[in-house]
Amino acid sequence: MRGRGRGRGTAIAGALLCGALVLGCGQPEAARGGGGPGGGGGGGDAGKRTPEDEAAARAAFLAVYPVFMHPRCLNCHPAGDVPLQGDDGRLHAQNVKRGSKGKGKYALKCGACHQDANLPGANMPPGNPSWHLPPPEMRMVFQGLTARELADQLKDPKRNGGKTLEQLVHHVSEDPLVLWGWNPGDGRAPPPLAHAEFVARFKEWVEKGAASPE
Ligand code: HEC
Ligand code: HEC
Repeated sequence: MRGRGRGRGTAIAGALLCGALVLGCGQPEAARGGGGPGGGGGGGDAGKRTPEDEAAARAAFLAVYPVFMHPRCLNCHPAGDVPLQGDDGRLHAQNVKRGSKGKGKYALKCGACHQDANLPGANMPPGNPSWHLPPPEMRMVFQGLTARELADQLKDPKRNGGKTLEQLVHHVSEDPLVLWGWNPGDGRAPPPLAHAEFVARFKEWVEKGAASPE
């Protein structure tokens, strides 16, 4: 059952489906700009999805979940205000903190150590021009979430940075910090799925209606 599935997420997913397949389209405007007024209601398209679609969506989400939970992703999506390090997810050394913009506090700005690219050698700072955590008002926590909780959060524009599901697909396909996970520098393992496979399964989750796992 859709249960806690969010009306807007459902509507968005439905609209995406309309584009991708030939299912009748409810309200395409519901798909625009994650922050549309009214929001609620929605769900009109849910009935057009078969139980098979829902099951496939759930399975697809369960396939991508270990990537989100992998240290290469989790370390920047912590439950607290300190980034995590290494495969054991220990708290970041040197008292580094999220800070008001996710870029660190005082002298310990991320960019003071993290350069535009990975520095070679074990235990050297990984790098990317926009290396930072999500900001405190939109923390996008992955750590500690069950698959269901994570799916619910990802579908919620109030908690995902105002993104539509389509924008989320784009994010996991092209965002440089996501891509960094598969080019993490010396001594760090990439997430368990190849990036292309991760994107394919994530897309499948969205196209089949983005149901949350039980
Ligand atoms: C004083 C230097 C310094 C500052 C400031 C700093 N880092 Fe780091 N960071 C490092 C070093 C060095 C490593 C590599 C540690 C290792 O591999 O043992 C690291 C590793 C990390 C990792 C782990 C990557 C992984 O997957 O293992 C994350 C995440 C991270 N830093 C995030 C941040 C964020 C976000 C900020 C700013 C809020 C920040 N760091 C500020 C030096 C710093
Ligand atoms: C260096 C830190 C860093 C790393 C590493 C990182 N992220 Fe993020 N992530 C962020 C920041 C900052 C944002 C918010 C900015 C934005 O939306 O572009 C974000 C946003 C996201 C979002 C969008 C919205 C939401 O609801 O969470 C997703 C999805 C995401 N990251 C997935 C991943 C995945 C998957 C990986 C690993 C392959 C990963 N991230 C690795 C910093 C990071």
